[in-house]
Amino acid sequence: MQRKHRITIHWRQEQRTISHDVPEGEYILQSFEAQGDPLPFSCRNGCCTSCAVRVISGSLDQREAMGLSRELRRSGYGLLCVARATADLEAETQDEDEVYELQFGRHFGQGRVRPGLPLDED
Ligand code: FES
Repeated sequence: MQRKHRITIHWRQEQRTISHDVPEGEYILQSFEAQGDPLPFSCRNGCCTSCAVRVISGSLDQREAMGLSRELRRSGYGLLCVARATADLEAETQDEDEVYELQFGRHFGQGRVRPGLPLDED
């Protein structure tokens, strides 16, 4: 019999708490959808951070989460679209664009693009 883990998500914006048993190794977002509870997402590919959560307790395997820096993973953030259940987990949805701002906010307005300057010849 396949091992399952109890996954609890506090969907703060919807003021709902949802729990499902997710078979070990299955993607949490996909499993919740299959059990009738679609959670927020966009790319479904570990890139956009729309599905990001803050982990309250437990752990997950998110080796495919290329949209999340190592630092943020260590701080307890996860991407449910590419997170596989490896243990019981309790997590809450992020504030709007929270992870995006944490990762990229400090870079806004500091890019190389300067209107009116000639292009670099690389
Ligand atoms: S839906 Fe885009 S990172 Fe999960």
